[in-house]
Amino acid sequence: MSKRTLNEIANAIIGGYRGVLAADESTATIGKRFAMFGVDNNEENRRAYRELLVTTKDAADHVGGVIFCEETLGQRTKDGRTFIELLQEEGVAAGIKVDKGIQPMPFAPGESITEGLDGLRQRLDGYAKRGVEFAKWRAVIDIAPGLPSDLCLRANAEALARYAALCQEAGIVPIVAPEVLMDGDHGLDRCYEISRHTLAFVFEALYEHRVALEGILLKPNMVIPGKKARDQSTTEDIADATVRLMKQSVPPAVPGIVFLSGGQSEAEATANLNAINVRHKNLPWKLSFSYGRALQQSALRAWSGKAANVQAGQSAFALRAKLNALAARGAYSPAMEP
Ligand code: 13P
Repeated sequence: MSKRTLNEIANAIIGGYRGVLAADESTATIGKRFAMFGVDNNEENRRAYRELLVTTKDAADHVGGVIFCEETLGQRTKDGRTFIELLQEEGVAAGIKVDKGIQPMPFAPGESITEGLDGLRQRLDGYAKRGVEFAKWRAVIDIAPGLPSDLCLRANAEALARYAALCQEAGIVPIVAPEVLMDGDHGLDRCYEISRHTLAFVFEALYEHRVALEGILLKPNMVIPGKKARDQSTTEDIADATVRLMKQSVPPAVPGIVFLSGGQSEAEATANLNAINVRHKNLPWKLSFSYGRALQQSALRAWSGKAANVQAGQSAFALRAKLNALAARGAYSPAMEP
């Protein structure tokens, strides 16, 4: 079989109203999620949990790509297959988180820069040889009084673009993930304004670095008030502001926009994606999901680290995957929630 183009890979991941499962939590982050349900954060538990997710029956109908971290990429199922092999058999693309996380930015109090460009070309070559077809790099933008600075936005956009160019050179689709955080008490309008500013820097940098927009997926935040905001917006307002932002910011050459959930509850993240697709038709890009927490929270709770609960965990994950794929076509209803 001839190798797929970047655009073909991107379209395959989100084709058929599928989305992405972000199962790429670092060891420290998955430890926080495990701790909520009393699960020990050891290598075997991390392996067993990721096996639960990728062996869930019928999930491939709803999830076209799974993002792993480095450790998971090297792990195997109980019967000895690598996770990449398993996904390939199901027609699901394997992805890898390649950034090395965030560090405080010098002379920019309260702001962070994502690291991981050194040696990235060699790492990407290795991943491509192992069958990895897409990657993820996340920039983190915090909203606070007077923040973010243009310095922070420009530096993070530059890193995202350098990462994206290296991915494309290696034949890997970059998921470009500038995340404006939901922390804080800012309202919908401020999230809109900062996200607009952020995406303007990102697309300028992608252009400067000669990244082919047909061969990326964008993974942004929705336009949503901070968790501590006094006025929480309606699903309809969030959907309309989010689509307005995308129209202002994202060229039509981009094949798909896969939102992160960013701390929304499972039901909220699904309802918001659904409203986006119900209220806005004939857009140039597909609008789908690349959720971490909003696909996994109830699965993790049902499993709670016990082998006897694997089926319950898989049922919970299968349900979230299905409901989000319905939301990607605007066919979800809250009445479908258990
Ligand atoms: P959440 O959906 O939990 O925000 O995670 C998605 C992700 O991969 C953030 O980088």
